[in-house]
Amino acid sequence: MRQCILPEEHFFDIFGYPESVAHIKEHKDFEKKITAFGADFKTGKQRLSKDIIKFLSDWLVAHIKGSDKKYGPFLNERGVK
Ligand SMILES: [Fe+2]
Repeated sequence: MRQCILPEEHFFDIFGYPESVAHIKEHKDFEKKITAFGADFKTGKQRLSKDIIKFLSDWLVAHIKGSDKKYGPFLNERGVK
């Protein structure tokens, strides 16, 4: 069984959210990118740039307003409030 990291992923498993694979891939891709950035930042290879801040901001806004918003009605219909 896949390791769930976020509570929403747990609900995807329980209720069989049909877009879970793509949604979880977004989480994993984001995690990989920020993990790589964090490692480079710690060694001084990477600085906190406007590009990184823009990436973080754009990703969070797009993910929360797009992908996250899409599963709300699906879970609500199954009793999750
Ligand atoms: Fe999400």
